[in-house]
Amino acid sequence: MSNIPVLTIDGPSGSGKGTIAQLIAKKLGWHYLDSGAIYRVLAQAAIKHNIDLSDEAKLSEIAQRLDLVFSLDNDALTVLLEGEDVSTLIRSEQAGNAASKVASLPLVRAALLERQRDFRQQPGLVTDGRDMGTVVFQDAEYKVFLTASAEVRAERRYKQLKEKGIESNLSALIEEISERDERDSQRAVAPLRPADDALQLDSTAMGIETVFERVSALCADV
Ligand code: DC
Repeated sequence: MSNIPVLTIDGPSGSGKGTIAQLIAKKLGWHYLDSGAIYRVLAQAAIKHNIDLSDEAKLSEIAQRLDLVFSLDNDALTVLLEGEDVSTLIRSEQAGNAASKVASLPLVRAALLERQRDFRQQPGLVTDGRDMGTVVFQDAEYKVFLTASAEVRAERRYKQLKEKGIESNLSALIEEISERDERDSQRAVAPLRPADDALQLDSTAMGIETVFERVSALCADV
């Protein structure tokens, strides 16, 4: 058991957990781990090296020696794979789906466990993902499970894409999000679910400011 405090924020894609996690990390002056980005980079590495997204043995092997660098400057997370900036590439819906596929493989998850735990550094860590509070940082002091309806999450995603000048189809996004939720919550290892001791927040009808206030209040003793 470590004495370095951790705040875990788990939830489905599009729930706003990444935004909240970064805001709180900044407020507390803690480190930040975007665990989903690790799975996204691994899927990218697999595509780059022509490895099938269901080849568990090969994927766990590359997971163990994944050449991955994160850096957070001016609120922007830069992600390097083998020295190449893949920050934008890994954010597409296809990359998210590919990440969800490789993340369902038990050996892949096992290979990435210690790498994630290494982010636990003083003065503290804020992390977001699917199994942060249930598996990776089970002993975390502060845990949040953030959700929202699939429709609202797809709408948020639609707006984000539009702001970036990318046209998308809302009903296709709802379908993709629901499919990803299903895979992430039905898998045998570390499925998406709230930890028993997590504060559960439904942001369907809640603005980002309110979610931020509720999570800040949880960590008020820091
Ligand atoms: O949070 P995200 O959308 O960037 O995550 C991409 C995929 O990675 C997600 O669909 C499932 C997987 N993932 C996971 O299995 N465990 C985590 N802790 C984080 C992400």
